Amino acid sequence: MSDDAATDQLTVVYGAEEVVVGPDDDTGVEVLEDAAVAAVDGTVVAVGPTDDVLDEYPVEDADTVLDASGQTVLPGFVDPHTHAVFAGDRSDEFVAKLKGKTYEEILEAGGGILRTVEAVRAASKDDLVANLTEHLDAMLEHGTTTVEVKSGYGLDTETELKMLAAIDEAGADHPVDVIPTFMGAHAVPRDVDTDEYVEEVVSEQLPAVAEQGVAEFCDVFCERGVFTAEQSRRILEAGREYGLTPKIHADEFAAIGGTDVAADVGASSADHLLQTDAEGRETLVEGGVVPVMLPGTAFGLGAEYADARAFLDAGHEVALASDFNPNCFARSMGFVATLGSVGMRMTPHEAIRSITSAAAKAVDRTDGTGTLRQGSPADLVVLDTPTATHLSYRFDTNPVSTVLKSGVVVHE
Ligand code: NIG
Ligand code: FE
Repeated sequence: MSDDAATDQLTVVYGAEEVVVGPDDDTGVEVLEDAAVAAVDGTVVAVGPTDDVLDEYPVEDADTVLDASGQTVLPGFVDPHTHAVFAGDRSDEFVAKLKGKTYEEILEAGGGILRTVEAVRAASKDDLVANLTEHLDAMLEHGTTTVEVKSGYGLDTETELKMLAAIDEAGADHPVDVIPTFMGAHAVPRDVDTDEYVEEVVSEQLPAVAEQGVAEFCDVFCERGVFTAEQSRRILEAGREYGLTPKIHADEFAAIGGTDVAADVGASSADHLLQTDAEGRETLVEGGVVPVMLPGTAFGLGAEYADARAFLDAGHEVALASDFNPNCFARSMGFVATLGSVGMRMTPHEAIRSITSAAAKAVDRTDGTGTLRQGSPADLVVLDTPTATHLSYRFDTNPVSTVLKSGVVVHE
């Protein structure tokens, strides 16, 4: 034993009915039965049959021990697309949509994103931190250990920076890893010309965000009536020059070239994709862009789901995200997995891959996040279910019993 061994923090989770370790060679996940996971100082050091793992890492030596008999262990969920920092209440729009109004009609009439912009401009940074923290708590309880959060309800430099500061502050104090994305191009402010606003995003907002180093990604809503493909390209290329990796909202209501832009600018992901055709899919696959689908949004809008099967049947990965925002009040990735299965015909194992390792790719996490193999971060979700299939299968109560982040129990 080395001298430092005494200070190593050993975590052992054993006796699980199933442990999901990561992607298989097809589009699903590899599952071990009657298995255990051991981690030292937050990194997985062994995964395998319980007897083998306990031989090497006896429970008596462990600082944290979990008997997972009758339960299932998965990698912590990664939610790669949210607008989780906001203020105000748009439940009345939910009612309006039930009565037949479309999302675009509500947006054109000054509702939707623009209404949340007013509420976020009026909110203090501390209000935003408190709101986001409440949402991060709910996400963690439902198994999310890494989440991407976008700005984009400021639409001016000051408020975009306030949102990014709130994201940074809430994330710093929370067990969930928070990945910040700048999305000044989420909508065009009221009474502002779109080209002029694009100019503001490129020459004012982006430099200010880059100077403060508060964002990792840059995202754009490339959509009919919002930002054209050329405007989106300009913003994402400018973001790239400031070191921000591009992402794009593409093909949600109309396919206007967002997938081409995604491939050309080297986006890590293209998200929504409800209207994407075979050519668009090929563009994404060839460009190495992860397709991110948001079944909660389709569910909430009563819309068609994106075509996940077209990617999966051709052997390509799909990521799923919650898209949590005032238009899609979904913080549970288990529910997202259910929607992926029921709405998009993903097998439960495909859905699990889409919210773990595939989702990690969508946010450029290459350190093993979303897997439980030797060297992976020890972010674990313990489900109170006999198999992993139950994650999609059960959609009533929360099946998550315990969550570990970096080998430490952060929710039980
Ligand atoms: O991804 N589509 C654009 N942005 C969000 C919705 C944000 C909102 O309605 O507040 C989305 O669904
Ligand atoms: Fe979005």
